[in-house]
Amino acid sequence: MQENFKMAKIGTDILEAARLLRSGETVAVPTETVYGLAANALDEAAVLKIFKAKNRPTFDPLIVHSASLDHAKPYIKFIPDQAKILAEAIWPGPLTLLLEKKGIPDLVTSGLPKVGIRVPNHPLTLSLLGMLDFPLAAPSANPFGYVSPTTAEHVQVQLGTRIPYILDGGASTIGLESTIVGFEDGKPTIYRLGGKKTEEIERLIGPVQLKLNTSSNPTAPGMLKTHYAPSVQLRIGDIPQLLSENKGKRVGVISFQLRYDHPRPDQQILSPSGDLDEAARHLFGALRQMDSRGYELIITEKFPDTGLGKAINDRLTRASIR
Ligand code: TXA
Ligand code: MG
Repeated sequence: MQENFKMAKIGTDILEAARLLRSGETVAVPTETVYGLAANALDEAAVLKIFKAKNRPTFDPLIVHSASLDHAKPYIKFIPDQAKILAEAIWPGPLTLLLEKKGIPDLVTSGLPKVGIRVPNHPLTLSLLGMLDFPLAAPSANPFGYVSPTTAEHVQVQLGTRIPYILDGGASTIGLESTIVGFEDGKPTIYRLGGKKTEEIERLIGPVQLKLNTSSNPTAPGMLKTHYAPSVQLRIGDIPQLLSENKGKRVGVISFQLRYDHPRPDQQILSPSGDLDEAARHLFGALRQMDSRGYELIITEKFPDTGLGKAINDRLTRASIR
């Protein structure tokens, strides 16, 4: 366990962040999806610090962040036409492309021939990336297997004693990790549902296949069945029915837009107006909050299976399996 730092400083000083990253340290950085724990992707010793701080097994590859498609090109062997269309239309944005790597250490990709690469859409992190002459490896800034952080405070609570600096860019505006797209024999494939809607990707390049945790031995654990999980048990279903089945238990409720009464539980409503984008933005914060209140059970429901609702349902399902 790394306990080298008293408590991470939180601030908006990108010069300090750049100085630390150049000296081989880790820094938590804001993105529009979730906060990442960043280090120089070309420096194995620095990258190893990410794995240690997160307690992350080295068989789980990291996503590499670049300032632009042009900045990413030196690290990619070639870009399929459909990948280029997606990158040009969506970057900076919540899309990770799996592409044949060049010059990226095996530690970053867990020995896989492809690297997950994306250009994040956050002004602070984009300025930071623009100042550096190396890309940043950055997984979500949470302990392995736990819910991703969407504020600097979330990072501070869990990793504060293990890292020197948290760049504070406010609350993540999307709140779900990036959508991961790769190509199998030229066929576009979504491996992780995320902040870029499937419908928008298909509008750009036509039909894509879905391959989400299809085997017990996935190529990468972001696709593991159990992941993104709070420490307390979570059940998905008809909220009034689950409430009556669990009378006498201390429960918290996370609902899409309705308030449930009789009995009136402690409840987080993710979007009273029924907006799935807003619900996505609030999901991880609500899970964390409910998880911190000492309940025996968190009860939630299936969200509409459209737009970001698909990724919300994916995260809730993974959070419910144990
Ligand atoms: O939105 C995001 O993607 C955030 C922000 C910080 O960019 N990052 C993120 O990283 O969610 P992480 O490490 O929590 O999830 C990365 C996942 C891995 O678990 C794996 O499933 C997949 O991305 N991945 C990364 N590189 C891969 C590769 N070379 N081959 C296959 N899958 C890969
Ligand atoms: Mg993660």
